[in-house]
Amino acid sequence: MERILVCGGAGYIGSHMVRRLLDEGFDVTVFDSFETGHREAVPRGVEVFEGTLNDPGDVRRALKAKSFDAVFHFAARIQVGESVGHPSLYYGNNVAGTLNLLRAMVERGIGKFVFSSSAAVYGTPLEIPIREDHPLAPINPYGWTKRMVEQILADFWRAYGLASVSLRYFNACGADPQGRIGESHDPETHLIPNILKSALSKSPGPVTVFGDDYPTPDGTCVRDYVHVCDLAEAHLNALESIWNAPGARAYNLGNGLGFSVKEVLAAAERVLGMNIGYRVAPRREGDPAYLVADSTLAMRELHWRPRFASLEEILETALRWHRRPRY
Ligand SMILES: NC(=O)c1ccc[n+]([C@@H]2O[C@H](COP(=O)([O-])OP(=O)(O)OC[C@H]3O[C@@H](n4cnc5c(N)ncnc54)[C@H](O)[C@@H]3O)[C@@H](O)[C@H]2O)c1
Repeated sequence: MERILVCGGAGYIGSHMVRRLLDEGFDVTVFDSFETGHREAVPRGVEVFEGTLNDPGDVRRALKAKSFDAVFHFAARIQVGESVGHPSLYYGNNVAGTLNLLRAMVERGIGKFVFSSSAAVYGTPLEIPIREDHPLAPINPYGWTKRMVEQILADFWRAYGLASVSLRYFNACGADPQGRIGESHDPETHLIPNILKSALSKSPGPVTVFGDDYPTPDGTCVRDYVHVCDLAEAHLNALESIWNAPGARAYNLGNGLGFSVKEVLAAAERVLGMNIGYRVAPRREGDPAYLVADSTLAMRELHWRPRFASLEEILETALRWHRRPRY
């Protein structure tokens, strides 16, 4: 049985990965600081190592706990706006923290790594859909942290033989179809949970739409929504691909379908069976009009197929969680 360490396994995407790994029969250990993650998101019986990547001692101790075959790394600070105001926090946590992890892996001879990268590595796209060979030109510190780690991974493969796959997620969304875990960020900056939280609250207020004067068909931003369970699936495929052909590679993970903010609102109205009010606020700095993935490479090389393609299906799973959030 393969032993996997999941860093950030108490967070939104990491906790879905943990469930999937358990379902597949892996031996799973979670490493998390619980800064933004939730203890309740980790199933009972899973070994949890509480610590921070910022402390090399914590990381070394965790990696010594077992002879891990691979590390899945979800732990990061994730707010683009905050990264602009506090770059030190982001470079410290996301880059220096990851470097601590990678150094400890090299020391322990653990040679397989799957990294949560982001569409933020591309910055403002020059072409849509975005392919992996699009220039990497982040426009905020968050995006730079992802790009820097990808570079470190390329260099660690060449120098130390540490094999990796970087998965560039587009907009992660949805929840465990059984409603056991889901998205719970504070503050929540993502559209779908904000729509659902607002619609389900006792006194539903309008959802804020940032900008309706973009050069898109209805003036609102178009994004590529990819289900969190499809992301988890891609990690398993990535691990297999590292076994079969080690290297340092990066793949986009998106549905390839773009939906505007207003289209997401309309789909949420259909799923909830109610009207949802919205108010238009000024554009947020650094929000491109379109962010849509070309995931052909992941489909071809990782044999990955997103299963949750329709907005309605995605929203239904998210709704199941938001009706009865447990944390
Ligand atoms: N949510 C998205 O739409 C999205 C899109 C692209 C990329 N990503 C990336 O996916 C990953 C997971 O995102 P998420 O939405 O699940 O975030 P999240 O905040 O829900 O989860 C992150 C987890 O990492 C832990 N963590 C953070 N810093 C840590 C540290 N220094 N040491 C130990 N644990 C630490 C947190 O406590 C939390 O449990 C992140 O790397 C993020 O950048 C997310």
